[in-house]
Amino acid sequence: MKYKGFAYIHTIGCQMNVYDSEKLAGILNEKGFKRTDTLEKADVVVCNTCSIRHKAEEKAFSFLGRFAKKKKTTPHLITVMAGCVAQQEGKKAFERLPHLDIVLGTQAFSRFGQHIESVKSGQRKLVDIEDSSDIYEAMPDTACFNENQISKFVTIMQGCDNYCTYCVVPYVRGRERSRNPESIVKEIETLVSAGVKEVTLLGQNVNSYGIKEEEISFHKLLEKVNQIKGLERIRFATSHPKDLSMELIYAMRDLEKVCSHLHLPIQSGSDKILKKMNRGYTRENIISQIMALRNECRQISVSTDIIVGFPSETTRDFNDTMDLLAQIEFDSIFAFAYSDRSSAPAAKFPDQVDEEEKMKRLNTLLQQQDHYTEKKNKALVGETVSVLVEGKSLKTRDGFQKGLNKMNQMTGRTESNKIVHFPGNEVQIGDLVDLKIRNAYPHSLWGDPLGAYDK
Ligand code: SAH
Ligand code: SF4
Ligand code: F3S
Repeated sequence: MKYKGFAYIHTIGCQMNVYDSEKLAGILNEKGFKRTDTLEKADVVVCNTCSIRHKAEEKAFSFLGRFAKKKKTTPHLITVMAGCVAQQEGKKAFERLPHLDIVLGTQAFSRFGQHIESVKSGQRKLVDIEDSSDIYEAMPDTACFNENQISKFVTIMQGCDNYCTYCVVPYVRGRERSRNPESIVKEIETLVSAGVKEVTLLGQNVNSYGIKEEEISFHKLLEKVNQIKGLERIRFATSHPKDLSMELIYAMRDLEKVCSHLHLPIQSGSDKILKKMNRGYTRENIISQIMALRNECRQISVSTDIIVGFPSETTRDFNDTMDLLAQIEFDSIFAFAYSDRSSAPAAKFPDQVDEEEKMKRLNTLLQQQDHYTEKKNKALVGETVSVLVEGKSLKTRDGFQKGLNKMNQMTGRTESNKIVHFPGNEVQIGDLVDLKIRNAYPHSLWGDPLGAYDK
């Protein structure tokens, strides 16, 4: 056949999509297509899509739209829309992308191999947005990944039952389902034996892990993962404030591999808006949770997600969010302008905020946060931190002392999830090194290996 045996996978969206793309790569590998970074040589092009905001969705259509022409000259090219937009659009995807071969919904990944075979034998325009009971278990155990990667994502639960009124996830990822702990532990052991040092456990609300299935709870799962030999660090995302338990806080305090960082998306500081978002907690709940967290885990860094311009958000509501950010001083935030999703109830809410006002609020908020982020980073100057080395640093900083410019500049992450650049000829990717922080910048730190340059 004319196939060269290569597949290109373009991933848009969250960490879960990064994980899913590796699974899709594993399936394609079984079907004789190796993952490549060179688009031109690919016989299969997959876009793993995200529909969380309008912009992400548009990115998917525009990426896949590029192949309409190529499909005419290379008819055997297999084009695939996978993931959240595929689940949302189903066969409607062909209206804008008539050249697509496969529309693969989020629950259909385990059937991807069959669909590839069908297209190879001449079928076109396949749509699979059906459910399945074994989303992950039916996929290849060892996904394809780059050997130099020392940090990996592992999805521990699918879907979401929370129905925040702005959010598309429950509609495109289905009901919340937790994987069994044995399969999670087995997968992490496999990753560790291939050289992985750090895992990030993923779920839309990891705090409710196992509850529906009457499995062990999330802090117990952390205890199990903490026992895996050779694994150095454990991270997780996302924790929903409505379900953050003291048991989890104690687990973060006591389990040595669990990193001292919590991503706790609060979305807004206005009780009125939180209620309309259906988040299930108040501003006071957030404050007391973060106090408890900081009391138990002294070194903890906390990050969050914020939405500005949710329908009916007034300047006063927005100022409540600004005040809460000032009170808490998060280490970092992700902030978004509210984006209407037609399947989510908030799209029909009255008093939509106009785009210009949303952008103004977003910029005000981000500027203010830069100040807190830098302040948090500056507080680390002079401190010693342990860093997991991720690779060579592309940054050059004034922090380099004379005579050190022949050194390799490396980069890594602290437990608190801050990026540190440092000189290090001796270190390898995957090493844990102790660094003394010399300089702090708005989005990174600069450190020296302990003892090396004190003289
Ligand atoms: N399950 C996670 C969030 C996953 S989505 C949680 O509940 O925290 C990631 C982030 O995207 C959300 O935290 C929210 O801040 C943002 N987001 C979700 N829907 C959005 C929308 N319609 N418009 C703008 N931002 C949105
Ligand atoms: Fe969306 Fe809310 Fe579920 Fe997070 S918890 S994925 S914001 S519905
Ligand atoms: Fe996007 Fe789907 Fe993740 S909508 S944020 S890729 S779960």
